[in-house]
Formats: sequence, C-alpha cells, structure tokens
Amino acid sequence: MFAYKASAQQGTRMFRAKILSKCAFRRKMSSRLVLGIETSCDETGAAVMDETGLILGESLHSQKEVHMKTGGIIPTVAQRLHRENIGRVVQEAMERSGVTQSQLSAVATTVKPGLALSLGIGLHFSLNFVKLHQKPFIPIHHMEAHALTVRMLQPVVFPFLVLLVSGGHSLLALARGIDDFLLLGQTLDEAPGDTMDKVARRLSLIKHPKCSMISGGQAIEILARDGDRLKFLFKPPMGAHYDCNFSFAGLRNQVTMSIQKKEEEEGVEQGTLLSCVNDIAAATQHTVASHIAKRTHRAILFCKAKDLLPSCNPTLVVSGGVASNQYIRKILKIVTDTTGLHLLCPPSKFCTDNGVMIAWNGVERLREGKGILSHTEEVNYEPKAPLGVNITAEVKEAAIKLPPLKLRVTD
Ligand code: KG4
Ligand code: ZN
Repeated sequence: MFAYKASAQQGTRMFRAKILSKCAFRRKMSSRLVLGIETSCDETGAAVMDETGLILGESLHSQKEVHMKTGGIIPTVAQRLHRENIGRVVQEAMERSGVTQSQLSAVATTVKPGLALSLGIGLHFSLNFVKLHQKPFIPIHHMEAHALTVRMLQPVVFPFLVLLVSGGHSLLALARGIDDFLLLGQTLDEAPGDTMDKVARRLSLIKHPKCSMISGGQAIEILARDGDRLKFLFKPPMGAHYDCNFSFAGLRNQVTMSIQKKEEEEGVEQGTLLSCVNDIAAATQHTVASHIAKRTHRAILFCKAKDLLPSCNPTLVVSGGVASNQYIRKILKIVTDTTGLHLLCPPSKFCTDNGVMIAWNGVERLREGKGILSHTEEVNYEPKAPLGVNITAEVKEAAIKLPPLKLRVTD
C-alpha cells in the first residue's frame, strides 16, 4: 500500500516536472534570449537571460581576493585574470542555461566606463563571439546597467532617482529612460568604497580576526557596530558647497591623521592593530553615510523643485557595492521618509558587478530596439564615459539649502 502510494506520488511528481519543463522550454523558445558579459573592473561575469528577466544561467569569477592581497587592483593582473577566465565563465553560463549559441538573440557586453585593459578583454571576446555566431551586438554602459538592474526585480517606472555608490563610482542621477539620464552630482576625487578600502588598509584590518577575508567597506561596517562614533569627530565634507557632488579624499586625510596620532599616543608602529579600530570605523562610516545622505537629500529637493519626479510613488534606487551597507541604508531611509520617497535597494548580489545586470540592460535595449549593432560593426571600449547629460552646474546654481534633519540611526 505504502509502496503504491509512494510510486503514485512519484509518478505525479515526474508528470508535473515534465509539464513544468515543457512550459519552461516553450517560454525559453518563445522569448528572445540575451547573453550578458561583464569585465569592466575585477569581476568576470556572464549570464543568459530571457526577455522577461528570468536568469537562465550565470557564472561569476571574482578577482577580489587576489587584489586584496596586493592592496588594490593592478590593471595588468586584472587583465590577465579576465583573459584566463572569460572563456570558462561564458561557457558555464551557457551550459547552466541549457541554451545553445544559435538560440541567442543578441550578446550584450560592457564597453564603458572601466579599466581599459579589463574592458578590452570582454569586448575582444564578445566581438569574436558575435562574428562567429553571427549575432547582433549590444554595447552596454556599466553605470546605466547598475542604475536599471532594479527594474529586473520589480516594476519601477521612469523617472526615478538613482544613487550609485561603489569602489569606483559615486553619483546621483535621474533615470528618465533606458538611455536617458540626467547627472545631478558625482565625486570630485574618489568613491566611498575606495575611501573605506584605503582606511581599512591603513588600519591593517586584514589582521583583525573578523575582517581577514572581506572587503574594506564590509570590515568598516562590521567593526563600526561595536564602536562609538563620537570618539572621533571628522569634519563633514563640502559643507559650504550647496550642490550634489561628493568628495571623500579630505575625510580620508583626516582619518589618516587621527590614526597617526593614535599610533604615536599608543607608541606602536604603523601596521599594528589599534585598540580604537571600532571607534575609528564607526566615525568614518557615519561621516561617509551623512555625506552621501546630505547630497541625496539635496538631489531630491532639486528634483522636486524642478518637477522632475512623479507625484505618484517617487522613488530613490540605491545600488553599487557600498549600497549593501546597512548603516548607510538606514540613514538614507531617514532622508526618503522625510521627503516622501520610496527607497529601493536591490539585494547585495545585484548591487555589485555581475553578468546579470549586463544581460538585463541588453534585454531592455532589445525590447526598445535601442543601440543594437550588427556583428560586422566596429566597436571600441571607452575607459571614461559620463552618465547621461551633466546638469551638475544647474544643481549648483540652484544652491538649495537643506532643512535641519537629524541623521541618527537607532537599532
Ligand atoms: O560594486 P562593487 O562590487 O565594485 C565596484 O567598485 O565597482 O563595490 C565594491 C566596493 C568596495 O570598495 C567595497 O569596500 C565596498 O564596495 N563595499 C562596502 C560594503 N560592501 C562592499 N562598503 C561599505 N559597506 C559594505 N557593507
Ligand atoms: Zn560596478
């Protein structure tokens, strides 16, 4: 009796599985399929996606561990690692998707901005691939892809405000369409992730038992949880500049000077873990977070003053590696709650570099028929490429003063 039931259940399960796979197969066949390839910095990523945004297969090779050991990205090393891994990563994504090269509708690849040597590997591989398989090619702007990834996860209509904060970028933009952006502010020196990575390195956090295998930004976030930010007071950057640009280099100098002072006080050599690392981490994180929050607050007020955001469900999307920082998210939530915006942060794995975000941007372009090239066209990579129309001067001219707002995070 029991055996019969079990086999009947098994039979039902097998039947359902067959139906499901048939549906999935039909869906796959009726939908256009895009292969996305990312190599702009230190991740070699590939993904196959259908037109609905369903990820059919993906693969990601991170170089982060290698670069962490050398204390930063060495472009020639990044290039070598991309060259060594790209074939395998693309093959894995294709195999996992069960899609053949001939079934692809297009190949989308990051061509700007990024490290020249890294971009070159992805582009060279992709151009050979599209020529061999005679597929259309869709060149992708890395920052546009970051900005629009959220639309793969939920319906977010244009226009919406985007904050991108990572190890290489720091910018605020208004997304008005898949290829229509207004740049409201950007960093004048370094990006917040870069600053936190450098502070972490200067503090030798790699020697800390909680931080040996993680990025500088993650280390700062973890240590800050047990720190008192009020033990170190760093001057907030750009307080007298009423625009939406960012600057983090000055903060890094202040932190470095405080570290030096503490080392002298404690009579220890550079490279020794200080007793106050948690407090320094907390103060650094808070200053970075408040700076980002204030520029974002001003961007929101600017967009409202110029009637650039919809009255129904205005949204702020936050992405990039630094967006996974919970403290920064909480401070941004204070800003969005005060201004009546909806805050959206994609899950961390979609905030950082990967092939999926590139495939999705390819899908969006394919759907709208924008920027699709034939496999015979010449394409070059562009290490420097602005995002959209730069209206930072107009934002500065508006000189919006922020109303007082307490940026205090309570757990
Ligand atoms: O987007 P991403 O993976 O690569 C690019 O920079 O394009 O971002 C990596 C950056 C690194 O600087 C890392 O320290 C930072 O994001 N990061 C964080 C956190 N996780 C990663 N920064 C602050 N808090 C975090 N939890
Ligand atoms: Zn990125």
